[in-house]
Amino acid sequence: MKFSVTKQTVSKIKADYELVFVVNKNLKHKFIKHQSEFDFYNFTGEGVLNLIADRIIYVGVKSLEPQNIRLAAAKAVDELRNYNVKVIKMASYLGDCEDKSFMAKAEGFVLGSYKFDKYKSDRKELKLQEVIISLSDEFSDKKVSQSVAVSHLEMGKIIAEATNFTKDIVNETPEIYTPIKMASEAQDLAKSLVNVTCKVYDEKYLQKENMNAFLAVNKASIHPARLIHLAYKPKNAKKRVAIVGKGLTYDSGGLSLKPTNFMVTMKSDKAGAAAAMGIIRAASMLGLPIEIHSILGATENMIGGNAYKPDDIITSRSGVTIEVRDTDAEGRLVLSDCLSWAQDKVKPDLLFDIATLTGACVVGLGEYTIGVLGNNYSLQRDFKLTAQTSGELLSVLEFNDHLREMIVSRVADILNSTGSRYGGSITAGLFLDKFILEPYKDKWLHLDIAGPAYLEKAWGYNQYGASGCGVRSILYYLIFGDK
Ligand code: BES
Ligand code: ZN
Ligand code: ZN
Repeated sequence: MKFSVTKQTVSKIKADYELVFVVNKNLKHKFIKHQSEFDFYNFTGEGVLNLIADRIIYVGVKSLEPQNIRLAAAKAVDELRNYNVKVIKMASYLGDCEDKSFMAKAEGFVLGSYKFDKYKSDRKELKLQEVIISLSDEFSDKKVSQSVAVSHLEMGKIIAEATNFTKDIVNETPEIYTPIKMASEAQDLAKSLVNVTCKVYDEKYLQKENMNAFLAVNKASIHPARLIHLAYKPKNAKKRVAIVGKGLTYDSGGLSLKPTNFMVTMKSDKAGAAAAMGIIRAASMLGLPIEIHSILGATENMIGGNAYKPDDIITSRSGVTIEVRDTDAEGRLVLSDCLSWAQDKVKPDLLFDIATLTGACVVGLGEYTIGVLGNNYSLQRDFKLTAQTSGELLSVLEFNDHLREMIVSRVADILNSTGSRYGGSITAGLFLDKFILEPYKDKWLHLDIAGPAYLEKAWGYNQYGASGCGVRSILYYLIFGDK
């Protein structure tokens, strides 16, 4: 999708359709021309009024906060999807966060235009190709320079396209999207980007590195595991960030098999790794002055005669021994070895892991919210505050020593599952903490995206299925926070 700005007034711009935002039900604003018809259509400034004959669409927006702009732009795309509208024109709507207004517009249009329909026989191409925004017609009395508008539209577009790229990975079916496929897609991604390299490590390497926790999860799969290292290294990098992503291309639960209804959607258990790929894509296209390493632990968790078992004791890469009590708590096993590898090999200034880790996080926070865990409360809080300006929802979950006691094993160093329903996302975070070395304790953030990564109910600009969760949060933090 193309975005452009012009000094022409909206009335002078040639386009197929005009989009008008009705801000906070203010039907008297100078941009609104069809007051006389609103009564007939029962339009009070909320929702959408599409006047086809006049080629104009009114979309209600609660306020000009970036998130409301995203939602309104996505609503317009959704409605106009059914018509042959290639070019939309609109005014400029600077809100209180005026610097983010143009980003939000581009994000709303691009996120809202996504569809996973490659397996549908009756799929329709999206007609919309261009959005033209007038800088002369501004909703308020504020002003924005053309260069800021253009650069922010471009930023929003890149970030949203990276999010859609991530959605495609997560939505792809598990027989197609295997660890080998993830590795080859990561290599293709690196080739298509500037300053990005990709190294893929096979099972022999994992053995040599003693990544036995990761390998245990892979044992019963016919698809071999892969450790994938994507690195974006710009010349002007000010710091180094590592993002470890859970890449379970399928999680059946293993011998602690998931019940039928809980297994469905587990193709989405690769969402953390997919987000880490999307972030590399955007970082390179934006030319961010930060070195970013995405480390993806790609494997399936399956059943079979050679499956790893509850009661196994595994010596992980770091030397910590793990008593397996539940083979469905496999994400933390993969992450523990990948986190250990990332600290030793990358030595990052900031270390993220991102994972669809626990059902408990969904129970605790609901399906919309990312859990933010770690040892550094001010880092967690700063991350949450900056990341949420992307429109993603985040909530900080705090560790405590009572819960830490629940993962003490009587026969090994640590348990992979407490066997209790209580505090499950925090005990999973505490498990990971056992693999964070002292110098990195305060530099580490664990993001549990089990709830928002995959939607069974669409909302706003998020369609049914993958949401690309975490891509925008981490990018917003790397761009706007973390100074
Ligand atoms: N991949 C799941 C977590 C999950 C659940 C993601 C629902 C998305 C939606 C994870 O591997 C898992 O199965 N976790 C177990 C842990 C338990 C056995 C300690 C869970 O949450 O039930
Ligand atoms: Zn599992
Ligand atoms: Zn899992």
